[in-house]
Amino acid sequence: MTTIKSVSKESRVFDPPAAFAERARVGSRARYDELYRRSVEDPEGFWAEQARELHWFREPTTIRQWDPPFAKWFEDGTTNLAYNCLDRHVAEGRGDKTAFIWEGEPGETLTLSYAELTREVRRFANALLGAGVAQGDRVVIYMGMVPEAAIAMLACARIGAVHSVIFGGFAADAVRDRILDAGATTVITQDGAWRRGKVVELKAQVDKALESCPEVARTIVLRRTGNEITMAVGRDLEWADVLEGVSDEHEAPALAAEHPLFILYTSGTTGTPKGVLHTTGGYMVGTYVTSKYVFDLRDDDVYWCTADVGWITGHSYIVYGPLANGATVVMYEGAPNHPGLDRFWEIVAKHRVTIFYTAPTAIRAFIKWGDEHPGKHDLGSLRLLGTVGEPINPEAWIWYRRVIGGDRCPIIDTWWQTETGGIMMSPLPGAIAAKPGSCTLPFFGVSPKILREDGSEAGPNEGGYLVIDQPWPSMLRTVWGNEERFRKGYFSRFPGKYFTGDGARRDEDGYFWVMGRVDDVVNVSGHRLGTAELESALVAHPAVAEAAVVARPDELTGQALVAFVTLKGTVTPSAELKKALADHVGEEIGKFARPASVRFADAVPKTRSGKIMRRLLAELAAGKEPAGDVTTLEDISVLAKLRGEDE
Ligand code: PRX
Repeated sequence: MTTIKSVSKESRVFDPPAAFAERARVGSRARYDELYRRSVEDPEGFWAEQARELHWFREPTTIRQWDPPFAKWFEDGTTNLAYNCLDRHVAEGRGDKTAFIWEGEPGETLTLSYAELTREVRRFANALLGAGVAQGDRVVIYMGMVPEAAIAMLACARIGAVHSVIFGGFAADAVRDRILDAGATTVITQDGAWRRGKVVELKAQVDKALESCPEVARTIVLRRTGNEITMAVGRDLEWADVLEGVSDEHEAPALAAEHPLFILYTSGTTGTPKGVLHTTGGYMVGTYVTSKYVFDLRDDDVYWCTADVGWITGHSYIVYGPLANGATVVMYEGAPNHPGLDRFWEIVAKHRVTIFYTAPTAIRAFIKWGDEHPGKHDLGSLRLLGTVGEPINPEAWIWYRRVIGGDRCPIIDTWWQTETGGIMMSPLPGAIAAKPGSCTLPFFGVSPKILREDGSEAGPNEGGYLVIDQPWPSMLRTVWGNEERFRKGYFSRFPGKYFTGDGARRDEDGYFWVMGRVDDVVNVSGHRLGTAELESALVAHPAVAEAAVVARPDELTGQALVAFVTLKGTVTPSAELKKALADHVGEEIGKFARPASVRFADAVPKTRSGKIMRRLLAELAAGKEPAGDVTTLEDISVLAKLRGEDE
């Protein structure tokens, strides 16, 4: 019993709208096929051509080196990512174009042109150098969603310091572990961050973390919320002070293509955090090219990605990819439900956002809150919608298309990972017909395969292990300080091939359907099932907003399914409804998949990046106390509530 059985019956197809395709960068399936074929048959030629659209101090002549598991891209080239995101646009006459439109949670708006952002980054780069930060030093950035977070990232990239952004929702222990693992000597933070009208005290967490981080020589502290903080003399510097009298002249140095760019700790649901290392040239080219084609960026777009800069999505698709393309990027500081449940839609209408990129977990929350909130605002400026982070349930996809996209906007379901650096599979919105719940086809140069346990290729619709068997420019280079973990974690299951950790199938049209993490696969009466498809069946029921399916040990069937279900706002829970939902899954998928138990929950435990922590639910379902790491849990009280809920 080695493969994963797919039970999805989704068959709807949505062609790219003709009006969209007409103006798109890639406007037909034939064109995509042609470009894709070229990219995999001649990867060096393809990527060399893409790289030439960016600025290199020395043009690379070696394009790709592949000595599994180690890849090098553009190795003899030198470049500077910040230069490509900033100075290049100014030099080419785009200095007046808006780079960032920033919306503070309390309601203020700030815009920064490319010329202004370039100046700010140059000044902060000079400030970092003045404070003693050198090329190769690790700098932790632990901030909220303020423009200064992007400025700090770009300034590090500019001088060749390796940044490690830690999501502002993490507490002192997580901050400490990451500082120590990265060997960081500088921490950039702020007094506090706004979140739902309250102050999240970031500096206080840093103070606690630094009690056990003697190597940290300095912190730089931005004042944002005005809460009281303590400043350690000789260690803690004010953001405003380090910039005092600092010049806005700074020449971006030429950095080697493989110069380390950043370390990002994965949000993983198990084990200790892993420091994924990305390097300069390949990551730059990868995020530039994917932003350009997947989001079909045009000069007049107003692009908004709702992720936090603490995640890879924020790195690649708020900061580096869009800025490398000279796009206008919206950045929002706060929560989607503050002050009202319509905050996102108010922002879309206010700034005439054209491209909107968010996560399925957010979409399910919008559905739960009700259609009246988007209904209050004019969303007519939108032309493209995207999702990332989890498999999207087809019903949530359909809702997104209808209610947010007015049945007019294509949806790009983008599959990728912290490790991949950039988007790996997604429809190109003007070229590839979408199927709800499928990330469709690989991006240029990406070679995904679905394998059986024995390494042979799975047939159509046969679930298996998703691997990538060729290197791509923005792939991780190693796990920081732990090469063994890099080899073991990604390249040992199928030697020489990158194993994603995801289960997937490919349908008769060659479309990919990601079925979730293989660690989450459940085995019922000999059927190995991906949880995503079971959850989709539940979410397709009109009463359900969100569902998480796990297995608990069962004498008869090996494992029995337990479904945790969050109901839509207006629905009343009842024993009949539990039965109806279990029956619904039985009818949709088959009797063997009928959950043995349905439990209603106000919320399910999620990581801080919005992924359901099925491991914790499985432990609860088995009547055990969740053991292991719960530090990535978004809201610890969710667990306590679930414990109380009985069958
Ligand atoms: O399981 C896949 C899921 O998220 C994982 C990567 O998580 P992370 O490194 O936190 O990066 C999230 C942002 C890129 C994947 O292994 N995942 C991400 N996008 C999708 C997805 N699963 C299905 N469909 C997607 N579009």
